[in-house]
Amino acid sequence: MKILHIASEALPFAASGGLADVVGALPAALKKASPEDDVRVILPLYGTTSSAWREKLTFLFHRTVSLNWRNQYCGVFTATVHGVVFYLLDNEYYFKRPTLYGEFDDGERFAFFCRAAVAILPDLGFFPDVLHAHDWQAALSVLYLKRKYADADGYRNVKTVFTIHNVQYQGKYGYELMNDVFDLLPSDFELVEYDGCLNLMKGAILAADKVTTVSPRYAEELLEPQYAFGLDPILRMCAGKLTGILNGIDRELYSPSKSPELPASFHVNRMAGKTVCKRELQEQLGLPTEAETPLIAMVTRLVDAKGLDLLTLAAEPLLEEDVQLVVLGKGDFYYEEFFRRLAERHSDKCRAVLRFDQVLAKRIYAGADIFLMPSRTEPCGLAQMICSRFGTVPVVHETGGLRDSIRDAGCEGGGNGFTFAAYNAWDMLYAVRNALDLYRDADAWRKLVRRVMLTDFSWDVSAKKYLELYQSLL
Ligand code: GLC
Repeated sequence: MKILHIASEALPFAASGGLADVVGALPAALKKASPEDDVRVILPLYGTTSSAWREKLTFLFHRTVSLNWRNQYCGVFTATVHGVVFYLLDNEYYFKRPTLYGEFDDGERFAFFCRAAVAILPDLGFFPDVLHAHDWQAALSVLYLKRKYADADGYRNVKTVFTIHNVQYQGKYGYELMNDVFDLLPSDFELVEYDGCLNLMKGAILAADKVTTVSPRYAEELLEPQYAFGLDPILRMCAGKLTGILNGIDRELYSPSKSPELPASFHVNRMAGKTVCKRELQEQLGLPTEAETPLIAMVTRLVDAKGLDLLTLAAEPLLEEDVQLVVLGKGDFYYEEFFRRLAERHSDKCRAVLRFDQVLAKRIYAGADIFLMPSRTEPCGLAQMICSRFGTVPVVHETGGLRDSIRDAGCEGGGNGFTFAAYNAWDMLYAVRNALDLYRDADAWRKLVRRVMLTDFSWDVSAKKYLELYQSLL
């Protein structure tokens, strides 16, 4: 089988969130599960791609790609990572920018990307059996394939899968972009028009042969108005082709025994290194180096969806306990200010590091005892899986992928974390206090940490589910 992923980010080339983890790891996992398959990925080549990775790229060819009246340069570079061929599409006007998204012309930038990704298939000599597009930035690739190229040689039999990583970001634009920028025809209007604007995600949901999302629970939630940011009627209409497949994590990338960023390595049977990681983390952050005090951590974008409003109510009572609290992330000014002030008031036990810092993130995953993830909604969530790998016990709100991956320690047969069902600050505090109670029983805690670390969050199972899904289309 030939599979082509189209996405706006993937590790190791470009990352702003969990999408990059998934597109960086899933193709290699597919290859591992089915070595005879040919799995490739198309990404933009951003100005932010590190020079170390740029040097590993080979230039293949360049051509022009048209988008209505525009004729734009498109260079094609390639590199092979873990047996997966990546193509990176170069156009400095569109992609040499300081950040991946949030530019005034994102609609045009990703329309160009999608058009180029579909247009170059003959040049690559690669027509996939399945084109798998991720999130709104890749949505137009499904539409171009189905509406512009469906009758062209080579394209006729290509099937499409569209994955929703987060329904909150849909790619909504004004009608005036329809022809001029997106180069769609009046006959495509019905497909992309929604609720007074153009909605690229909606178009891809309707046009794709299968739609997936990143956890089974989120697939159910997407049918309900309180979760779907307006797309629930469309998703209910397409429920027959919608499935949820839980993400995994890259076990090599997030390995407590193979992470050079950590001051000490450890392993489920050799846990002394975790104590060192905790002490060094406390030292680095200027917190008292108390081995016994439970260290609670959050690594998160500071936005509403991550459940931070619960913290604005629960942080003070939480800090009355004998705990340390560390928050890493940046985002909305309101929450940045809240955590900055909280840390000022509790300088002996709380730190807020308001930036995106992957090295510190890993040190926190490894050095903390408890990881708090109270997301209001969470399509899948990766941090709860990453912290588990490093023996840090997650406390999560039972939503989306958090509900599918973490079971409460109090439930029958034992769990791999602590959970709360109602989205409510006191229920969250109750779950954290359950964790703190167990923490005080060193033996029980050690057993829980072991179970947490041994939970299988690898891609193996999910890769097989994707392969079955692809197969069902052929
Ligand atoms: C998005 C979602 C997150 C998910 C990730 C990868 O970032 O918000 O829950 O884990 O995509 O699928």
